[in-house]
Amino acid sequence: TQRKNIPHLITLADLSQSQIYNLLRSAIQHKYNAKYAGKGSGEPLKGKTLALTFSKRSTRTRVATESATAYLGGTPMFLGSQDIQLGVNESLLDTAKVISSMADGIMARVGPHSDIEVLAKYSSVPIINALSDKYHPTQILADLMTMHEVFGPHPDTDSEYISHLHHPKDFLPGLKVAWIGDGNNMLHSMLVTFPKLGIHFSAATPQNYQPDADVVEIAKKEAENSGSELSFTTAPKEAVKDADVIVTDTWISMGQESEKLQRLKDFAGFQVTMSLAEQGGAKPDWKFMHCLPRKSEEVDDEVFYSPKSVVFEEAENRKWTILAVIDALLVKKSFD
Ligand code: CP
Ligand code: NVA
Repeated sequence: TQRKNIPHLITLADLSQSQIYNLLRSAIQHKYNAKYAGKGSGEPLKGKTLALTFSKRSTRTRVATESATAYLGGTPMFLGSQDIQLGVNESLLDTAKVISSMADGIMARVGPHSDIEVLAKYSSVPIINALSDKYHPTQILADLMTMHEVFGPHPDTDSEYISHLHHPKDFLPGLKVAWIGDGNNMLHSMLVTFPKLGIHFSAATPQNYQPDADVVEIAKKEAENSGSELSFTTAPKEAVKDADVIVTDTWISMGQESEKLQRLKDFAGFQVTMSLAEQGGAKPDWKFMHCLPRKSEEVDDEVFYSPKSVVFEEAENRKWTILAVIDALLVKKSFD
């Protein structure tokens, strides 16, 4: 729900197909300008501040957001849970009102998804979800950008990279992505996005680790609209059939540390390996993605450090896609 006409990025379920493509196009353009054309941003955020309220650890999201804000001429202000009054001496509601009265935007990493909803309700400036227990929208934008670079043109090899011929809508629909892992915030985020874009998607999760029913409903409706295939299974081999991309994430998300032993047992057989991909019949040139941080239980070293793995490109693309989100919300003030 969008309040006071302020646009937020809470989940990609709220954005249309063309709004998602607009963000990808913008990220591609910014990366090209900065890395390949040596152009600056024009510093549209000069004099503005983006507050980062993070209640959990972060490497990529924090570095991406701080460096993107600096590139746009603004100032990132990191407010870790040890630094501010939030959660100890002050409520989320009061914190949202106070920070938004001084900063121009808030990038928030929270525990319960309801926290990001509260922030959006009471903030007078745009809120960007930097991860909640339900969704991780900025990660999916980086995943889409990486898939575009892998299966479409790449700026290193294509001199007409930025031309209209190279719109991601020409490359993403029709790809097949297979998720092997937990029914967590990453799977939820893919479910509300990939079917909407016409990307075929299959998810293998252990029996008791299935995605939330409301998210599955959204995915089914989107798949019907776009005509993409969507399937759920508890058998990893079934899910990887004909996959262009195999993707996983940690089996133990932040906040679930006490469930570690049980989860390691329950996820037996879910490690991504070359033989899983071969036996399941993934496409010969399949690629591996992972939002990181990674543990070796969910994917072995052979896959993770192989040429099939695009995880470090994916990590870098966090910067360009978050940059596009900040540009949309704080500069253009719209996703359209
Ligand atoms: N992928 C991701 O969000 O990484 P961080 O937790 O390091 O930000
Ligand atoms: N599912 C993981 C993603 C980390 C980027 C977590 O929530 O901890």
